[in-house]
Amino acid sequence: MGPSTTGATDVSDANRVHIFDTTLRDGEQSPGISLNTAEKVEIAQQLARLGVDVIEAGFPIASPGDFEAVETIAKGVEGPVICGLARTHKADIDAAWGAVKHSERPRIHTFVSTSDIHIEHQLRTDREDVKGQARAAVALAKSYCADVEFSPMDATRADLEYTAEVIGIAVEEGATVINVPDTVGYTTPEEYAAMWRRFYELVPGLDRVETSVHCHDDLGLAVANSYAGVQAGARQVECAINGLGERAGNCSLEEIAMLIRVREDVHGFGTGINTREIARTSRLVSRLTGYPVQPNKAIVGRNAFAHESGIHQDGVLKERTTYEIMEATEVGLESNSIVLGKHSGRHALRDALEQLGYRIEGNALNAAFKAFKEVADRKKQVTALDLEAIVSDEIRDRGDAHELTSFEVTAGSGRDPWAKVSVTLPSGEVVTGESTGDGPIDAAFRAIQQATGTESELAEYKVDAVTGGEDALGEVTVMLRTDGFLASGSGVATDIFEASARAYLRALSNSLEGAATREAEAATADAAGERTPGP
Ligand code: KIV
Ligand code: ZN
Repeated sequence: MGPSTTGATDVSDANRVHIFDTTLRDGEQSPGISLNTAEKVEIAQQLARLGVDVIEAGFPIASPGDFEAVETIAKGVEGPVICGLARTHKADIDAAWGAVKHSERPRIHTFVSTSDIHIEHQLRTDREDVKGQARAAVALAKSYCADVEFSPMDATRADLEYTAEVIGIAVEEGATVINVPDTVGYTTPEEYAAMWRRFYELVPGLDRVETSVHCHDDLGLAVANSYAGVQAGARQVECAINGLGERAGNCSLEEIAMLIRVREDVHGFGTGINTREIARTSRLVSRLTGYPVQPNKAIVGRNAFAHESGIHQDGVLKERTTYEIMEATEVGLESNSIVLGKHSGRHALRDALEQLGYRIEGNALNAAFKAFKEVADRKKQVTALDLEAIVSDEIRDRGDAHELTSFEVTAGSGRDPWAKVSVTLPSGEVVTGESTGDGPIDAAFRAIQQATGTESELAEYKVDAVTGGEDALGEVTVMLRTDGFLASGSGVATDIFEASARAYLRALSNSLEGAATREAEAATADAAGERTPGP
């Protein structure tokens, strides 16, 4: 059974590994990432095109914003199972169900820690109580939803027999998926596989439910551990695009999917992933989260298919397979074939966007067309990569954000860099600010601070060219630190100052929204009698 033309591998059910994407939940817990609902929906739609089996869309109890995003995805994204995370509390499970129930394929994912470290120090309870919590949570979730996933958190540092007992309770109560997380990225492939084999021996009925791996990358072993779990019998892998997630992140979706595809000869497993959508999904997530992909990252890094040494280049020119184990086209890194010019009309734009998988109509199409025209007037040719950048830039525009209305920048030898900006506030009021700075970008950022009456520290500033060439679109990412919290934003324009100012304003809007979300989370935690709602 070889790879099909869509990139998805056709294998028998027993060998089908389900891909559970947690970019929007565990991935979104990475510092500085704060996606709004429109951005989350865009990522979820792309995940559906990528062919993931399950989208963990968020943690609905965490804040009204999280709830709204999960609910919107459940209502609008077709294909994958839509899952919401919940602790064992009734309020969490009610919220998760309230948000996912609109999906044709809803799932509630509930979890409680089984390690003594967590039970004693975080939950401040005992093993018996945790057993009761697991039983009640799965039973309640099951009363709402046929598909219920249970995770014993920090299982790889927990007593194995005790964790097996808790898993057994979840299975008894009707859990359909048992996920065993390596929460702190501590286990090794051999140890994790051995643990799974022992669970199959100890837990009655485990062979009749779906088993799942969830591995963090603290020791760089997330993909290896997930693969070991699959070889030991698990058929769901929890992973995130670009390996995003708490601390060092989760198992990277693109790496595990290509490992399963490329080494099908040794294991016979397959996934439903349309691998040709991988590169695009990675770019979209990187753009919207403001998290760049390291150049040497496997599969999606800029250098993943580049050959530098003369010996390698010589080999690849003679025969590609001398130094390549997969083709760039397999992961969607083919040449940038769609090209529009400045005379292209609305229909041509809509067709090109459709070929790229974006179905845009009405106001959204008008906005995209306006942005396209602005770029096309300054750039000879607008390519597929440019279009992708323009469309995701439009998605980032949100009703409640600060907008750049106009800007002026002057710099040159013998004069102090100076900038003047005017910004439309979420209230509709237009404010202006003016400042000098260490350079023109610094002056523009200071002018924005003056206009908006805000103060943040610039934690990161990054400029990339979307494509090569002198007239390339510039893409700027700004990370701001405000009161100790990070928030990022990015902007795309042919003018690097404009892209920088827009990126700064988006980071500022995200930072203000983050502060509001944290307040809401604190209120929820207070109401539930604890301080940390995040898993
Ligand atoms: O890492 C972890 O344990 C988690 C659980 C909520 C599954 O993310
Ligand atoms: Zn996790």
